Amino acid sequence: MNRAENHILVIFGALGDLTKRKLIPAVFKLKRHKLLPEKFAIIGTGRIKLSDEDFRKKMLDTLNEFSDDNDLKKSDAEEFVSSIYFTVMNFADDSDYPGLKKKLTELEKKYGTGGNVIFYLATPPSLYGVIPLDLAKHGMNDQSNGKGWKRLIIEKPFGYDLQSGKELNAKLLKHYEEDQLYRIDHYLGKETVQNIMVTRFSNGIFEPLWNRNYIHHVEITSAENIGVENRGGYYEDSGALRDMVQNHLLQVAGVIAMEPPPSFESNAIRNETLKVFQSLRPMTSADVERNVIRGQYGPATVRGEKIAGYREEKGVKKDSRTETFVALKMYIDNWRWGGVPFYIRTGKRLPTRVTEVVIHFKPTPHQLFGRGRAVNDSCNQLVIRIQPDEGILLKFGMKTPGSGYNVQTVNMDFHYSDLKNETLPAAYERLLHDCMTGDSTLFARADAVEACWSFVQPILDTWKENKKIKIFGYPAGTWGPEHADTLIEEPGVTWRYPCKNLSDDGLYCEL
Ligand SMILES: NC(=O)c1ccc[n+]([C@@H]2O[C@H](COP(=O)([O-])OP(=O)(O)OC[C@H]3O[C@@H](n4cnc5c(N)ncnc54)[C@H](OP(=O)(O)O)[C@@H]3O)[C@@H](O)[C@H]2O)c1
Repeated sequence: MNRAENHILVIFGALGDLTKRKLIPAVFKLKRHKLLPEKFAIIGTGRIKLSDEDFRKKMLDTLNEFSDDNDLKKSDAEEFVSSIYFTVMNFADDSDYPGLKKKLTELEKKYGTGGNVIFYLATPPSLYGVIPLDLAKHGMNDQSNGKGWKRLIIEKPFGYDLQSGKELNAKLLKHYEEDQLYRIDHYLGKETVQNIMVTRFSNGIFEPLWNRNYIHHVEITSAENIGVENRGGYYEDSGALRDMVQNHLLQVAGVIAMEPPPSFESNAIRNETLKVFQSLRPMTSADVERNVIRGQYGPATVRGEKIAGYREEKGVKKDSRTETFVALKMYIDNWRWGGVPFYIRTGKRLPTRVTEVVIHFKPTPHQLFGRGRAVNDSCNQLVIRIQPDEGILLKFGMKTPGSGYNVQTVNMDFHYSDLKNETLPAAYERLLHDCMTGDSTLFARADAVEACWSFVQPILDTWKENKKIKIFGYPAGTWGPEHADTLIEEPGVTWRYPCKNLSDDGLYCEL
């Protein structure tokens, strides 16, 4: 990877959780890997009055707590924080922006960063349509006449529904060019998601099979074993569909289903994933009733520990109808995927934490070695594990040694952990560096965000309008409501239940 161009990184929401847990450790990692530019500084902003020195101390504590650097050296961390500054401001108060501009101008001179700035919005989403406009009002979006580039990283969620997503895009695009906007979807920053493209487009053996003729169905599962933690208030208004499906899981589906791009240039790739989103078959209300199952976790005892139900969580209504689980069946109506169901499943308080894609290939046209084996067992599967134990596994049939012709399924697998000298960069490290080098490939473009909302909107509308549609309960620690199984209608075909051999704490599951 190349060193980034000189710039200043301004973080809005620098006293928040994301900055602490992800952003500062990621920027520090970039420094350790010599990927930061020579001339670089950070300005953190927040509404508590702090001196630069106070803020640096906080960032040192943050590094000690959240950096995954095994040999974190005090001197390195101290050198890193010496170019971090702080400005107090209320982001919603227009009169606080000149103070930021003054500090930015001073530091640009001091560090010689040539006017290049990244503004990172790590704030509540209600401010995504406010801060960029105030920056523009005070001329901080100006990149004319050699004033340096200005880029904006915007966290998720991007909009609350189709209309608000469109309105936010329209507001931003009034003051910024599309290529200044970096809508982050940290799933795209995951090494294993990028590897899907490399697996598909650098191997001759997969692509000829990657279509309706050979693939029976595709399954995308993203399970979390934790509940809503202390984000009950946020989650009440969001739910699993908005929180996971509209963005992360549709983006993964886009990478699985896209056509090979003509080049590996940002817009060439994003044009192809956009076509996938535009080809998603719109759901009618009847489709939603039939093909989307929602659930909510209830109390249970998991590995001896009493787990509260969703409705008992802080910030959650006692009669909440917010889904903590969703499973859906969708179709991509295009030449390649006509008739192939894509199943997506995500939820909280499931048995473990795992995200994976399973490509289920069709069985052989004639079952020579034994009829009546379940379809799941007799088909080849390609399992792309996104997290944890990142890797790829191919399941295929092999003769059981001995007399007769009994077939058993065996695995050919690759684990990233086998690459002893390589560590997987954290998603935020990769994405921050991409923005620093002006590469927007792994960020969501305005049209893609809107296309994803267009697919999800009828589901939200149907749930809102038709109160008869059930929200199924499931005990915490299980794989969600049993009704999710009915989505897959064929006999002998079920979801893959990963991690049959869970570790004692339920956290580690083998590929
Ligand atoms: N945390 C994660 O791992 C994560 C992951 C993915 C996406 N995100 C997204 O990233 C964004 C930030 O998340 P977070 O978890 O860091 O939230 P957070 O902990 O609530 O941080 C937001 C920060 O913004 C500050 N803030 C809010 N309104 C402000 C205002 N008017 N003026 C000045 N400061 C203001 C808050 O200050 P106060 O504390 O004073 O209110 C807080 O320090 C959210 O949109 C979230 O959806 C977070």
